[in-house]
Amino acid sequence: MKYHVKDLKLSGKGKDRIEWAERSMPVLRLIKNRFQKEKPLKGIRMAACLHITTETANLLITLKAGGADVHACASNPLSTQDDVAAALVKVYGIPTYSIKGEDRKTYYKHLYSALDARPNITMDDGADLVSELHSARAAQASEIIGSTEETTTGVIRLRAMEKDDVLKFPVVAVNDAKTKHLFDNRYGTGQSTMDGIIRATNLLIAGSTVVVPGYGWCGRGVAMRAKGLGARVIVTEIDPMKALEAVMDGFEVMPIAKAAPQGDVFVTLTGDIHVIRKEHFAKMKDGAVVANSGHFNVELDLVGLKRLSKKVRNIRDFVQEFTLKNGRKVFVLGEGRLINLAAAEGHPASVMDMSFANQALAAEYVTKNHDSMERKVYSVPEDIDNEIARLKLKAIGVAIDTLTAEQQHYLSSWEMGT
Ligand code: ADE
Repeated sequence: MKYHVKDLKLSGKGKDRIEWAERSMPVLRLIKNRFQKEKPLKGIRMAACLHITTETANLLITLKAGGADVHACASNPLSTQDDVAAALVKVYGIPTYSIKGEDRKTYYKHLYSALDARPNITMDDGADLVSELHSARAAQASEIIGSTEETTTGVIRLRAMEKDDVLKFPVVAVNDAKTKHLFDNRYGTGQSTMDGIIRATNLLIAGSTVVVPGYGWCGRGVAMRAKGLGARVIVTEIDPMKALEAVMDGFEVMPIAKAAPQGDVFVTLTGDIHVIRKEHFAKMKDGAVVANSGHFNVELDLVGLKRLSKKVRNIRDFVQEFTLKNGRKVFVLGEGRLINLAAAEGHPASVMDMSFANQALAAEYVTKNHDSMERKVYSVPEDIDNEIARLKLKAIGVAIDTLTAEQQHYLSSWEMGT
C-alpha cells in the first residue's frame, strides 16, 4: 500500500482516539452498519481531501465499509493529526498522504498521490481536488462521476465555476445541508475556535475584547461563545443584513479600522482575503492576539505585518511574536491557518457526526444518481437532511411532537380565518 505519514508507530494512539470519537458519532455508526450490509459504494474509487482527524477517520472507515476503495489526503497543511494518519494506514488499510506541518510542495504532492488512485468520486474540504481536476489534472476529469464539498469556501468556488460554465462534473454541496452548516459551522466552529485560541495562548477571555470579522454561521458561533466566556465582543461586517442581526444579537458592530485599536483578540471568519491589513495591524494595542478560523490562510495580510515588523520569533507553540517598528508586539496564532484545527482538534465528534453523515449519504446519492446529474452544484436532498436530523434527535434521546389530524388540516387549508 502506498502512503506518506509521519510515523506508523503512532497508530496505536490514533486507533484509540478514533474509537473515542466514534462514541459520539451515532448517526454515522448507523450508516456504517447499513453500508456494511448493503455495500452501496462497491466498485467506487474515492479520493478524500479532508482534515485528517479522528472524526474524518470515522467517515473514511464508513465509506470503506460501504465497499469504496478510499484514498485520503490532507485539506490543510497544519490540520493533520499524525496519529490518526498512521492508524488509517496501519489499522484500517486506507492509503493516506498527510503530515502535520507539511510544506506547500508536499501538500500538493499529497493531493496528486490521492488523485493517482484514479478516483471516480472526490470529496473535498475547500475544493482543492476539484480545482486540480480542472487544471493540472484536467485529463482525469472525465473519470469523475461526481464530487462532494464540505465547506462554505469550497462551495463559493464551485458555484463560481458553475456560473462560468466550466464545472466538469456534478458536485453535492454538503455545506448547504441544514444539518451541516447550522450545527457544524455555528456550534462546531464556535467551540473549537475558542478552544484553539485558548490552547495556543492560555489567555483569559473574560474581560477581554474579542473582535470577530464576519457574521456568517461560523462568526456567529465564535461571537456567541466568546460572549459566553465573558468577553466584550465586537463584530465587523460588510453585509448590512448580517450587521443588523449582529446588532440585534447584542454585539457592537463597527468597521475593522475602528475595532483595530480596541481588540485584545481578533479572529477572522469571512472566507475573504486580507480582512485585517497592514493599516489595521499598525493601530493594534501592544499584545494583541490575531487568529484566523476561515478556511484559507489569506484573511490576515501577514506579508504586510512582516513589513511593519523589525523582529519575528516563535514564542510558544502556534504563537509567533511580531515586534513592530512602532515598538508594539502583535501575536499571530497558527501562522494564520485555521486555528481550531492547527492548535486544537477541530470540531467535536458529535457535530461532525451530522456533517459526515451528509458526506456518506451524498457519496451514496452520487453513486446511485450520477447518470441523471448535470455539471452543477447540487444541494443535499431535503429528505436526507431531515432524516439526519431525526436520527440525531433519536440518538440523543430527544422526542418531538407530531401534528394532529386537525393541525394537519389547518396547515393545508386556506378557508379557516379568524
Ligand atoms: N473541520 C472542522 N473540524 C473538523 C474535524 N474535527 N474533522 C474534520 N474536519 C473538520
